[in-house]
Amino acid sequence: MDKLVIGNWKMNGRRAANHALLAALLQEPACNRRGVSVAVPALALADVAAQLAGQALSASAQDVSQFADDGAYTGEVSAAMLAEYSVDFVLLGHSERRQYFGEDNRVLAAKYDAAHAAGLRPVLCVGETLAEREAGQDEAVVAAQLEVLIGRADGDLVIAYEPVWAIGTGKVATIEQIAAMHAYIKQWVLRNTKGAVSIRVLYGGSVKAENADAVLSTPNVDGALVGGASLDVSAFRKICETAEKLIKYGNSQDVNLDR
Ligand code: 13P
Repeated sequence: MDKLVIGNWKMNGRRAANHALLAALLQEPACNRRGVSVAVPALALADVAAQLAGQALSASAQDVSQFADDGAYTGEVSAAMLAEYSVDFVLLGHSERRQYFGEDNRVLAAKYDAAHAAGLRPVLCVGETLAEREAGQDEAVVAAQLEVLIGRADGDLVIAYEPVWAIGTGKVATIEQIAAMHAYIKQWVLRNTKGAVSIRVLYGGSVKAENADAVLSTPNVDGALVGGASLDVSAFRKICETAEKLIKYGNSQDVNLDR
């Protein structure tokens, strides 16, 4: 199984800095390959797509409108609009969107369908808060978030597990916590959905150059969703190099997909 690396720029970047960052990444074979993508603010997509045209490094989106058809939805960006800029993945249900914009499963199901219909690859983000983990609710919370996939999961499914308490905090979940939740997610998908041909679960939450090897070598970790470190050329390059090395030497312990 390959190892995806998606950089999530969040609400960062200005045109000149974005251009310089991408120009540097394009020079790096480990970054400029299929399986590496940068999820950029919607407004940056036109510039980013132009700069990445013909390159292997792809542009992704951080969100999409729940409304598929054009219309009176002030401020929204539709999946069809994103598709015009060759958007590869679209992040759905990032914890920041759940927290600040109240996104719930009903909205995320509509977003999932809109993204899918436009040919974008949804990445459903799930994860529990620290209070939920301490209350022993982590699996139940993640399972409830995964319900969006019921009746939807088909083809090559990509999920990102991002424990909320590990995002932007410098606290990485332990290898045991990551391995356990990734296995749980894959098993949940196998039990509750039918159409997935492959299931990739990315880990996100304070992934840095220093911990990339440990995180990406963990069983059932099929890649990383990288926030802060994706804004730094040398950190992101090292994470991409680690992923590429692990693909070459193969270490995946994926849950068996036979049903
Ligand atoms: P950090 O890597 O900055 O912790 O962010 C993780 C994240 O939210 C990626 O989507």
